Amino acid sequence: MRNITEDNLVDIVLERLNSESERDYEVISKFIKHIHAFIKDLEPTEEEWFKAIDFLTRTGQTCNDKRQEFILLSDVLGVSMLVDSINHRTKKNITETTVTGPFHTSALNFEMGDNIARGDEGKRGEPMVMRGLILDENNRPLEKALIDVWQSDDIGYYDIQDTNQPEMNLRGVFETDETGEFWFRTIKPKAYPVPTDGPVGELLRASGRHPMRPAHIHFWIKADGCQQLITHLFVAGDEHLDSDAVFGVKESLILDFKLNHSTEDADKWQVESPFYDVVYDFKLARQKT
Ligand code: BEZ
Ligand code: FE
Repeated sequence: MRNITEDNLVDIVLERLNSESERDYEVISKFIKHIHAFIKDLEPTEEEWFKAIDFLTRTGQTCNDKRQEFILLSDVLGVSMLVDSINHRTKKNITETTVTGPFHTSALNFEMGDNIARGDEGKRGEPMVMRGLILDENNRPLEKALIDVWQSDDIGYYDIQDTNQPEMNLRGVFETDETGEFWFRTIKPKAYPVPTDGPVGELLRASGRHPMRPAHIHFWIKADGCQQLITHLFVAGDEHLDSDAVFGVKESLILDFKLNHSTEDADKWQVESPFYDVVYDFKLARQKT
């Protein structure tokens, strides 16, 4: 019989591990070491520990096909951005990455120039044209690049949070031709709070933190021979840029969303005047061979 004490328990748990895979062993043993160290440091009461288990249980129970509370938890703790940073250390001549977030879902395929605002937001929101190029790190245009875009509406809700919006509203997939050019119509995105009616909201309140994200539009770009790019573009001047609830802002992704008053340009892009005219060239890293 071994005498288990708080001093030898972590080693006894580690001795039991018999993983076939080295990486499994590394993941499990490091997790055990860190959580034992955390508990020794914190010395929670039994009541507090049950509260922690209840928090994680409810986080899981809050997830469904339209809501991902665990991604949100990872995001507000800064863990998603830490994983992002570790996996994208080389900057070179490429667009920087940021969090995917919990609101990406499948979307309709569109033709260049289509309007992704398909509900009342299309009439209420401020018209915007988003355009630019999809390039590789050598500035060569990428043909057949898939541009998956999603954003919130003029009030700050995604379609999957709001039954008043048509399904797959304010999201869409576009494919480039040999020029690498893209353009589409939409509305200017607004700052919005991450969902606070679940366990993550409790955590933010207990931390004394606000839930706001600065206004942004999401992109997930895939092209043959290149590493995929998951990023956002942020609206310059937003009051939440320095305190994003999920730590996703990078300087290079903040853009001037210019208001264009030219009626000639409005006619050219088939939007009402004035409109926000946003131009950005995305650069994807070549896949390592
Ligand atoms: C988003 O930008 O859609 C988002 C990202 C992380 C957490 C919540 C929302
Ligand atoms: Fe978002």
